[in-house]
Amino acid sequence: MQHFISLFDVSSDDLKLILKASKVVKSKLLAGERPDVLHNRVVALLFQKPSLRTRVSFESGIAQLGGSSLFLGDDVGWGKRESPSDFSKVLGQFIDAVVCRANRHESVTQLASFNAVPVINGLTDLCHPCQALADVMTVDEAFGDYTGKHMVFVGDGNNVANSLALICAKLDMKFTLACPEGYEMDEEWVAELAKAHPNADINTVHNPAAAVATADAIYTDVWVSMGQEAEAKSRRMAFADYQVNDKLMAAAPSTARVLHCLPAVRGEEITDNVIDGKQSDVINQAGNRMHAQKGLLVWLLNPDWIAKNV
Ligand code: CP
Ligand code: NVA
Repeated sequence: MQHFISLFDVSSDDLKLILKASKVVKSKLLAGERPDVLHNRVVALLFQKPSLRTRVSFESGIAQLGGSSLFLGDDVGWGKRESPSDFSKVLGQFIDAVVCRANRHESVTQLASFNAVPVINGLTDLCHPCQALADVMTVDEAFGDYTGKHMVFVGDGNNVANSLALICAKLDMKFTLACPEGYEMDEEWVAELAKAHPNADINTVHNPAAAVATADAIYTDVWVSMGQEAEAKSRRMAFADYQVNDKLMAAAPSTARVLHCLPAVRGEEITDNVIDGKQSDVINQAGNRMHAQKGLLVWLLNPDWIAKNV
């Protein structure tokens, strides 16, 4: 069964095809076409954490393609009312795919291990692969290509950074994380990435101004991710010199674009001036969540359409 639990599940060629499919469905939508590619398909959204972008972009995208979605929150009792295997196998009887946002990454891999339908990761503590798809799509639109572009992530080596580093490795992009000591990416993740992509240009540094000097895109995310609220005070202190603000932007090329997965804590990891400024692509980036996920769903559920239209 083809899942999308992390970007390790897809080859570079698969990724390029998903991104091409995303472009096709976006241009069709802009031309007023909503092809019935997921006709009568049902996708469940199983969420343990809050969401605006992921939930709404999946639900709207699925509807635009002629399918329907079911939002499953806490009341379905995942991990609480019955064994994970019973839950997963029964869910698989009713639906064509499940998008899952979980506190722990292992919960998603466990769900997939019993499930006979594709499982898509809608964010875990370890990674956020759907976000990375939209991020690269946004870079592609800004520059006309993503190959060779330098993505500089300023902030926490978190779930979003992990997926971005991996997508950059898979697509021959350069990735630099500028973070305080102690907030690097997950060690096992980086080791697996290096094993799978030995020639990847992935770096971790501690000087944000030096890192952004050659950036095509400057990316940031919150300093306190969902589930890390108890560490808020120490994190705010550790990241104080890692704000994306006018001073940092002055150290970057004037052509650099600004990205943020959102939601942002304005005034903390990024200032109003930068997020609302001329170099910011964050709203298009959020919009691209829907187009990229439509490309992903079509790739997973209707490969014949991809073969004919992409
Ligand atoms: N970027 C993102 O995943 O946003 P939500 O948490 O609102 O889904
Ligand atoms: N790193 C953030 C991303 C939110 C989309 C979090 O996990 O809360």
